[in-house]
Amino acid sequence: NGNEEQSQDYLFKIVLIGDSAVGKSNLLARFSRNQFHPYSKSTIGVEFQTKTIDIDGKEIKAQIWDTAGQERFKAITSAYYRGAVGALVVYDVCRHQTFDSVGRWLEELHMHCDVNVATILVGNKTDLKDAREVSTAEGKALAEAQGLFFMETSALDSSNVAAAFQTVVEEIY
Ligand code: GTP
Ligand code: MG
Repeated sequence: NGNEEQSQDYLFKIVLIGDSAVGKSNLLARFSRNQFHPYSKSTIGVEFQTKTIDIDGKEIKAQIWDTAGQERFKAITSAYYRGAVGALVVYDVCRHQTFDSVGRWLEELHMHCDVNVATILVGNKTDLKDAREVSTAEGKALAEAQGLFFMETSALDSSNVAAAFQTVVEEIY
């Protein structure tokens, strides 16, 4: 209605990073379209989805970028990270190796982004209870040591997916 305050738009770029097959694309599909793909293929290149989030009555547009965790499919990193103000660093709670890579992903993030980039450590696939290799305590301890937010999620059963993205957006805003 022409009111300057009401027409104000916020657009935040958020990047998803982490090893291949940890569930980055499915976290994004669940959050942006409420979809889950049991047989999804590795991401090639870069994709993004925009999701509008309401915080304190303000419309915030989160533009969430997704790329391949696999080195040979990885898109040019500087362009991927450029302008990002938030990040989700994802590992698979059922593959300890993906948790061991988190330090490397954080190094890459901090090479390309401001140190203040709002970052959450996300342990995905909590629905696979019998296959767990990384405990909640282990994830929490790493997050605390690195000064990150922390959440465990399941893109399959939806648990904590919206909350993880919301945490990052609220911190930016
Ligand atoms: P890249 O694009 O190669 O980097 O992989 P990605 O991190 O995007 O992984 P993707 O979302 O493609 O998921 C990899 C596999 O894990 C797929 O078979 C998904 O269906 C499965 N998956 C993703 N999230 C979950 C989850 O929360 N629970 C379970 N059980 N499977 C999941
Ligand atoms: Mg992917």
